[in-house]
Amino acid sequence: MEFSIKSGSPEKQRSACVVVGVFEPRKLSFPAELIDKAAGGYLADVIRRGDMEGKAGTTLLLHSVPGTLSDRVLLVGLGKEKDFREKEFTAAVRTAVRTLNDTGAFDATLFLTELPVKKRDVTWRVRQAACTAIDATYRFDQFKSKKEEVRRPLRKLTLAVERRNELTQAETALNQGTAIAEGIALARTLGNLPPNVCHPTYLAEQARALADEFKLDCDILERADMEKLGMNALLAVARGAHQPPKLIVLHYRGGPAAGKPVVLVGKGVTFDTGGISLKPAAEMDEMKFDMCGAASVLGTLKAVARMALPINLTVIVPATENMPGGNATRPGDIVTSLSGQTIEILNTDAEGRLILCDALTYAERFEPTTVIDVATLTGACVVALGQVASGLFSSKDSLARDLLDAGEEALDRAWHMPLWDDYQELLKSPFADMGNIGGRYGGAITAACFLSRFTKQYDWAHLDIAGTAWKSGADKGATGRPVPLLVHWLMQQAGSGE
Ligand code: BES
Ligand code: MN
Ligand code: ZN
Repeated sequence: MEFSIKSGSPEKQRSACVVVGVFEPRKLSFPAELIDKAAGGYLADVIRRGDMEGKAGTTLLLHSVPGTLSDRVLLVGLGKEKDFREKEFTAAVRTAVRTLNDTGAFDATLFLTELPVKKRDVTWRVRQAACTAIDATYRFDQFKSKKEEVRRPLRKLTLAVERRNELTQAETALNQGTAIAEGIALARTLGNLPPNVCHPTYLAEQARALADEFKLDCDILERADMEKLGMNALLAVARGAHQPPKLIVLHYRGGPAAGKPVVLVGKGVTFDTGGISLKPAAEMDEMKFDMCGAASVLGTLKAVARMALPINLTVIVPATENMPGGNATRPGDIVTSLSGQTIEILNTDAEGRLILCDALTYAERFEPTTVIDVATLTGACVVALGQVASGLFSSKDSLARDLLDAGEEALDRAWHMPLWDDYQELLKSPFADMGNIGGRYGGAITAACFLSRFTKQYDWAHLDIAGTAWKSGADKGATGRPVPLLVHWLMQQAGSGE
């Protein structure tokens, strides 16, 4: 879809469709009032007849409205004006775009971007509208032999702003929104791909393709490289797999040449059977999503490169399958991690922390200011926070604060969880420096505590996205979270955020 920004009155737009909002009950938004005036009370009449109450999620398509220059006017219900906030705003944009795809209109001008949203300016509204519009049309149908066809898809969407002096910031916001949407789409697609396609080698190829597209440095470590380095925790997970593991490293250099990078580490378990500690059969297919951390850091990198943010960003993806087999790791095996610390692997299904700990140690060599790892790490995090918020852990409160704020702004929220020493005790092992599990209680926290032992050299945060990275059920699929949160945080780091 093509986008542009414009300022001007709705009744004077020459387009296939003009989109304006109606609040509940039966109250025209300001742009709708302008059309109504030009049309001699036409909209007010329609509303009086009860065809559009303004309920959120409803729409009404009108043709040849008098006094306007457009073929159509689409009314979109916004819900009660006093409840109209960020979520209602994006929901209205989503509804508008989906509806437009069902009409004959190839282009449309969206006046929803002029609606006031508490605490949010025009930059936020345009960025969010563009991102939502693209995300609303995302499809993953490459394995359907018969594709559901959109008869006359929306090709061009113009976002309206009230004043001419808002045009410049709106253009910037539009670029940000489309870049973020591109990052989200990449993360969703990598997540949705079946595990026989999206294996570690495939992820490495995708990373190489990103590197080619954006002129990034790309380094792929093979099993032999990892052996030489001593990444025995990562290798322990890969033992049962026939697919070879990969450690993917990408460098984006948009900041000062000597500037230290931010490092993002993403869990890339392309299928998690549990290994010898085998998972039950029900819903095991969803463990193809166990590489959504990897997908999200690659998506974030793509958005950052697309925006050409003035920062240095390194992405590390430890990628492997977690499979059972005659050569697989046994519960009770002890390995020496890259850091030198020894780990008794008590449960082979707690594999995410094993591949992450070696990647986190490897990150030290890039002398990062900050490292954030992103992982579908624990079922316990889903129990704690459901599918609403990602679990956020950090060794530095101000970093946690900034990430929480970024999540609020991006509508991709996280919740701060504790990392207190009291929990560290649960990882004690009689035979090694630590075990890889911490017992029945506080599973998301003990997993984060495990990782914290490998992150002493830099400021660190951990996002457990087990509940937020994908949706289950009838329309299951990857969400692309937490790409919005991460990109907003990086925009703040680059000084171009709000
Ligand atoms: N990938 C899973 C976490 C997961 C489970 C994400 C369910 C989303 C839904 C992870 O590797 C895992 O298996 N974790 C175990 C840890 C346990 C063995 C300590 C878990 O959460 O059960
Ligand atoms: Mn597991
Ligand atoms: Zn896993």
